[in-house]
Amino acid sequence: DKNNYQTVLHYLRDYVDNAPVEVKKKWVKEEKYRSAANEEPASDETVLPKSRPPVSRNYIERNHVQILVTQKLLPDGPVKHQPRCILHGIGGAGKTQLATNWIQENEARFTRVIFVDASSQGQLEMDLERSIRCLGPEYTKKTWEDAVAYLDHKDQGWLLYIDNADSPELDLRPYLPTSTHGKVLITTRNAECINYAPSGAVLVGALEKSEAVNLLHAVAQVAPVSDTESLDIVEELGMLALAITQAGAYIRQTRRLSAYLGTLRKNRNRLLSRKPDIGSDYTSSAYAAFDLSFHQLPNSTQKFLRLCAFLHHSLIPLSLFELSTMSGFTTYTVRISCPPPESDRNFISKLQEIFGETWDEVAFQEIVNSAAQASFINVSTDGAFYNIHPLLQMYIQDSLGAADKGDFVRMALQLLLGAIRPAEGSNAPLWHLLPHATRIPRSVLSENLAHILAFNGFYDDLGNWRACWELLEYSLERDSRKARRKAWQHNVGHEQTRRGTVALRSIK
Ligand SMILES: Nc1ncnc2c1ncn2[C@@H]1O[C@H](COP(=O)(O)OP(=O)(O)O)[C@@H](O)[C@H]1O
Ligand SMILES: [Mg+2]
Repeated sequence: DKNNYQTVLHYLRDYVDNAPVEVKKKWVKEEKYRSAANEEPASDETVLPKSRPPVSRNYIERNHVQILVTQKLLPDGPVKHQPRCILHGIGGAGKTQLATNWIQENEARFTRVIFVDASSQGQLEMDLERSIRCLGPEYTKKTWEDAVAYLDHKDQGWLLYIDNADSPELDLRPYLPTSTHGKVLITTRNAECINYAPSGAVLVGALEKSEAVNLLHAVAQVAPVSDTESLDIVEELGMLALAITQAGAYIRQTRRLSAYLGTLRKNRNRLLSRKPDIGSDYTSSAYAAFDLSFHQLPNSTQKFLRLCAFLHHSLIPLSLFELSTMSGFTTYTVRISCPPPESDRNFISKLQEIFGETWDEVAFQEIVNSAAQASFINVSTDGAFYNIHPLLQMYIQDSLGAADKGDFVRMALQLLLGAIRPAEGSNAPLWHLLPHATRIPRSVLSENLAHILAFNGFYDDLGNWRACWELLEYSLERDSRKARRKAWQHNVGHEQTRRGTVALRSIK
C-alpha cells in the first residue's frame, strides 16, 4: 500500500514539477500549428459534423405520431416561442427512429441539422463542441458554451436534435438555445423533460396494431394470409418496437411463425419465475423476446454482446477489438517497476477464447454478423462502428449473475487496456475509446496501479488533465481512506494539494 502511495505521489509531483515545461511545449506546438495554418489549411485536422443514427431498413411509418411532430416543429404562422418537440417514452419504443425518419423527410426545411447524443453530460458537451468546431478552422478552439451562443445569436434556421436525454440527473437548460430562429427536437425516457416545453410533448408508446404486425412481417420477411397469429405475438410483446424487431429476427431465422408464441410463453414463464424484479419501466415480455433470440446465438457472439453491454451503447469501434487482440490484450507497461498484475492473465485468456490469440478479421466479422442478423447491434454504413440499444444492454446485464457480471466488466476493462497505447501522431483512435472508458466503473478501473498508470497516460494523451487528476486522487482515497488521507496530509499538506490542482488546471 505504501508503495502504491509513493508511486502515485511520485506522479503527482512529476506533474506539478513539470508543469512549466509542459506548458511551454504546448505553446511551441501551438505556434507550429499556427504558422502551418497560415501556409495551407491543415486538411486532416478538419472536424466533421456528428452523423445521425440511420433509419432502419424496415422502417414502418407511424403517421399519427409523425403528424404530431410536424405540428410541433413546423407550426403555421409566426411563433412567440422557439418550436420544440419532446418525444418521450420507454426505451425501445421507437423514439430515435421516429425522430431520425422525420428529419430525413424534412431536412430541406432547415439550414443545418445538429445531432448531439445526451446519454451523458460529457458526451453532450463534446458533441455540441463538435457542432461549432466543424464550421471551419477559425472555430477549432470553441467550446460547447460558444456552440449554444452561436445558435442563439448568429445562426438561423437550424434544428438541434438531442437524442437520449434519459438521465433524471441531466439538466438540459444550459444546453438549450432559446432563440426563435431555430427549433429543438429531444428524445428521452424521462417524462420530466416535458417541462422544457409542455406544449411540445409527444408520447411515443405502443405501436398501433397494423404498424406492429407490419413491422413483425417486414423483419421476419414473411407474408402470412392471416394476421391472427402475428397479432397475438405483438400483443404478447407489449407492442414495443424493439421487442417486435427481435421477434421478427428470430422468426426469420427459424422460419416458424406459428411456433413462436408457444416458445415465447414458455420462456416468459421461465423468466418471470427467475426474475420477479425486472425494472418496472419495461415489460417482462420484451425481455423474454430478447431472451429467445439471445440464446440462439453462437457462444462467442453472446460473449461479444456481454462485453458490449458494459461499453457505451453507441459508436463501439471495430478498432477497439482489433488493436486489443493484436496486443494480446495486454496492459501497456508505463513503469518497469510497476508491471501489469498477475490477475490480467485470467481475463486475457477469457478474451482470447472469444477473439483468438491473433487477429482474425473473418472470424470477428462472423461474430458481428450474427449479432447484427439477430438485430442485437446495428453496424455503421462504413462498418467501423457498432451500436447496441441501451435496453438490450440492460437486459444482458440483468441476465448475468453477480460473479459473471464482475467478470465481464473486468474483461471489458482488459479489452480497453489492450487497445490503449501511447499516441503516436494523431490521437484520434484514442478519442474513439473515451466514451467506453468512461463507462467502466472507477472502482474497477483503479483496482490496480498498473491499470491506473495506463489510463493516466491515456487521459494525458487526450489532454484531459482533469480526468488524470481525478483518477489519481480517487485511487489515493480508495481502500483505506483514513490511513491514506493521513499520510497524504502528513507528506504533502493541503497547500501543496491546492497548488497542484491549480498547476494542473493551468496546463489545460
Ligand atoms: N418505426 C419503426 N420502424 C421499424 N423499426 C423500428 C421503428 N421504431 C423502432 N424500430 C426498431 O426498434 C429499435 C429501437 O428503436 P429506437 O428508436 O432506437 O428506440 P428508442 O429510441 O425509443 O429507445 C430500432 O433499432 C428498430 O430496430
Ligand atoms: Mg433512442
